[in-house]
Amino acid sequence: MWNAWSQRRLRAETVDRLLAAWLGAWALFDVPWWWRPPGHGGSGLAILAIAGLAVAQSLPFLWRRQRPAAVLAVTAAALAVKYGAHLNQWSASAAVLAAAYGLGAYGRQPARRAARLLAVMAVVAAVISLQAFRGSHSAAIACALLGTALVLGEVAASHRDVATSAARHAHEQDRAVLAREIHDVVAHQLSAIAVQAGAARFASADDPQVAVTAVAAIEQGARAGLAELNTLVRRLRQSGAADHHADPQPRLEDVGGLIERARESGLRAELLVDGEARPLTDAVELAGYRVVQESLTNAIRHAGGTAATVRLRYRADGIMIEVADDGPAELADAAVSPGGGAGLAGMGERARLLGGQLEAGRGQQGFVVRAFLPSAP
Ligand SMILES: Nc1ncnc2c1ncn2[C@@H]1O[C@H](COP(=O)(O)OP(=O)(O)O)[C@@H](O)[C@H]1O
Ligand SMILES: [Mg+2]
Repeated sequence: MWNAWSQRRLRAETVDRLLAAWLGAWALFDVPWWWRPPGHGGSGLAILAIAGLAVAQSLPFLWRRQRPAAVLAVTAAALAVKYGAHLNQWSASAAVLAAAYGLGAYGRQPARRAARLLAVMAVVAAVISLQAFRGSHSAAIACALLGTALVLGEVAASHRDVATSAARHAHEQDRAVLAREIHDVVAHQLSAIAVQAGAARFASADDPQVAVTAVAAIEQGARAGLAELNTLVRRLRQSGAADHHADPQPRLEDVGGLIERARESGLRAELLVDGEARPLTDAVELAGYRVVQESLTNAIRHAGGTAATVRLRYRADGIMIEVADDGPAELADAAVSPGGGAGLAGMGERARLLGGQLEAGRGQQGFVVRAFLPSAP
């Protein structure tokens, strides 16, 4: 990304240098050099003044992106001097048009507003001068060209704005995806570890065997968590979208492993599958897995119950996922803060992004999470 950015910068600088050189070379043709045939050469002062104007209408273009308004002011001043002194104005006019484009294209908001206003004024001036000088169209053409240059600059700037905001949006979406993944993976593994550690502490005095089993589960949970985190970090480091699928992501068929781990944490979890299980898109498979994972994590952390049922209903148009626990209803009812924590919010985002929906709250017995993920958005 850095490379692409620096290359673009280099290219932009080259363009600016070429433009400045070209405008300068053109303007230098207007200087009445002393080697010109008699009658065409000028005095030393005239040569110096016109060469100075040539510099003024070309050199500032090296800063046309940083100081577009100043560049327009300097070139307009050079044109005004040439006009006043009845000198050839072609090169200065070209410089003003290039600077006018820059005002819209590279100016900040106030400069861009000024450019839009100037464009309107130029068009109005073109119409008026068409009426006023019926014999000559050159003033109208000059105004129309100025207006066109300003508008073209504005168009370039708005194209850039659209591209920038699309890039920012994509960046924010990437961050949200990663935030959800990190939350779900880390919260899940750490809650299981916390529960197991608590069990080990209680059991260590009476039943060392239970403690040993719990510690073994902690070890396994920590390893599984590390493996998942490594996968996430690898994906973070891969820049190309094509690499995104390099690491296999968890799928609904891996829900059995979640059930097993929930059981190790002391939750009597069971899995029921209705309908013909079939592979769904990678996105749906991952989202479904994460919904089950986070719901079981919540059941272990918050429900205070002892059992949870995970139900996967395969339908023709997608999959219905339901995770219900038997935690005390009043606890679940009191617990759901509006907006919820990152877990419920993340599950909702996952479902909505795929065109599905998710609801969570008190069920008949305890807490129920119900999600529908369509197979085709
Ligand atoms: N199974 C559940 N039983 C009871 N309360 C729950 C359950 N799941 C979620 N909650 C409540 O909803 C809140 C939001 O959950 P969540 O978004 O996953 O955040 P977190 O788990 O980080 O607190 C929890 O803090 C908890 O109070
Ligand atoms: Mg949670």
